[in-house]
Amino acid sequence: MQLFCSSLLTPPFSQSDFVLLLIPALLLLGLVLQWRHPKHKRLPPGSMGWPYIGETLRLYTENPNSFFSSRQKRYGNIFKTHVLGCPCVMITSPVAARMVLVSRAHLFKPTYPRSKERMIGPEAIFFHQGAYHASLKKLVQAALLPCAIKGSVSEIEQIVLRLLPTWENSSINTLQEMKRFAFDVAMISAFGNNRDFEMEGIKHLYQCLEKGYNSMPLDLPGTPFHKAMKARKLLNETLRGLIAKRRKSDEEESGGLLRVLLGKDQNKPNLQLSDSQIADNIIGVIFAAHDTTASILTWLIKYLHDNADLLEAVTREQEGIRRKLFAENRGLTWDDTRHMPLTSRVIQETLRTASILSFTFREAMEDVEFEGYFIPKGWKVLPLFRSIHHCADFFPHPEKFDPSRFEVPPKPNTFMPFGNGVHSCPGNELAKLEMLILLHHLTIAYRWHVTGDEDGIQYGPFPVPKQGLPITVVPRSKIVS
Ligand code: HEM
Ligand SMILES: *[C@@H]1O[C@H](CO)[C@@H](O)[C@H](O)[C@H]1NC(C)=O
Ligand SMILES: *[C@@H]1O[C@H](CO)[C@@H](O)[C@H](O)[C@H]1NC(C)=O
Repeated sequence: MQLFCSSLLTPPFSQSDFVLLLIPALLLLGLVLQWRHPKHKRLPPGSMGWPYIGETLRLYTENPNSFFSSRQKRYGNIFKTHVLGCPCVMITSPVAARMVLVSRAHLFKPTYPRSKERMIGPEAIFFHQGAYHASLKKLVQAALLPCAIKGSVSEIEQIVLRLLPTWENSSINTLQEMKRFAFDVAMISAFGNNRDFEMEGIKHLYQCLEKGYNSMPLDLPGTPFHKAMKARKLLNETLRGLIAKRRKSDEEESGGLLRVLLGKDQNKPNLQLSDSQIADNIIGVIFAAHDTTASILTWLIKYLHDNADLLEAVTREQEGIRRKLFAENRGLTWDDTRHMPLTSRVIQETLRTASILSFTFREAMEDVEFEGYFIPKGWKVLPLFRSIHHCADFFPHPEKFDPSRFEVPPKPNTFMPFGNGVHSCPGNELAKLEMLILLHHLTIAYRWHVTGDEDGIQYGPFPVPKQGLPITVVPRSKIVS
């Protein structure tokens, strides 16, 4: 579905790529694999049998909880399967996931399809491992750490305050609206708050790029992929123009990630990046930032809607903050957002329950001995965040939406909504900040009800409530009690 696939954090193949290109390849591969592996080395248990096509489609059309849990029950915490044309090892234990993502991360590299790499830009952070990745990561983190985003609170608040009134009285598609919100925030974190004339153009080209992101990678005139690649080229040119301009100017207010990547931040190690490297990473970060945040915000609205008591409690917490701001005659600050314990737990529980990134992809860079099993070079390895987040051993009654479970910290390595290790999400504080600021204003001023199918979920690698959760938002003052 649109969201997951237009997110950067997608599986290496979209369904349509798969259907058209991979069926024959997959049949062949199945045969080859039968011969390739020496019998004495013990592969993880699991079925590599014929009905792979069925398995693949099921992975993206079924409830992922039951897809994974049925296999886990049968084979244990590490099992092999065959999805989207690739032999895979799926991992559902926190300790083993930690090994893949943290302690033995050097043996497992991130893996994306070539078409996605071309579309985002091959020099973007996600695709790299080792020294280039490490120094890039330092820069991206520098732009997204609390000390760097603290100053954005009022800018994000302004975006919220412009957006909320446009929701009043008519049915809105929550997911679409949250995308607008998250995109505007992503633009600020990429470029800072100054309004260059290039911004509108960049926004427009971005939308074109996104439309083709999920399409079959067929670069022929007229195809969505071709159009997206054309937008990518224009985006490249626009960004390079902006980069050249910012390199020359010594305006201090030109902020955001771009400023850090240009090496204009005195405190940061001076890695000399080329214009292309900068452009690819700006585009990549906006990609990673906006659909993920939009879909978690959609779930947040849904869970609060379904749990009236929690909504009341969150509203009381936010009203307390509002009264304080009123008494002190000032606006919301970063420090205020650090004093929202209940709202923060609701956000954590949303991240756990929704697990919008059900899993991530790695690839074994060499033959690896792992927990007594043999993982051949080139196999995909998938730590299943969702299975860990929904395991009753770590989160009793996992299906229940219960923020109070976060009153004590979760067991180590069991809660990874933002991944773990060298590739973990540098945007996690920003994402949480967006949720807090939106909830602050939304709960104080509005109520909402779901106008579509209440309990439907669009399954996919990146599930969201059905139809993007249509809701009607009403000002609280208009509710007669
Ligand atoms: C609720 C929202 C978000 C979720 C659930 C999320 C989740 C994740 C996860 C699980 C990863 C690791 C993927 C892997 O190990 O393969 C990741 C990576 C990344 N995320 Fe996020 N993310 C969110 C929002 C953001 C935001 C707002 C930004 C930027 C402003 C961002 C930027 C990135 C980047 C740059 C990476 C790649 C890091 C690397 O490869 O070293 N994300 N994200
Ligand atoms: C962006 O433009 C530069 C210079 O024309 C080129 O070298 C680079 O490959 C382009 N990047 C992408 C992703 O098209
Ligand atoms: C929404 O409806 C209420 C009354 O039903 C009205 O007072 C308010 O102005 C409306 N808001 C917008 C943005 O139209």
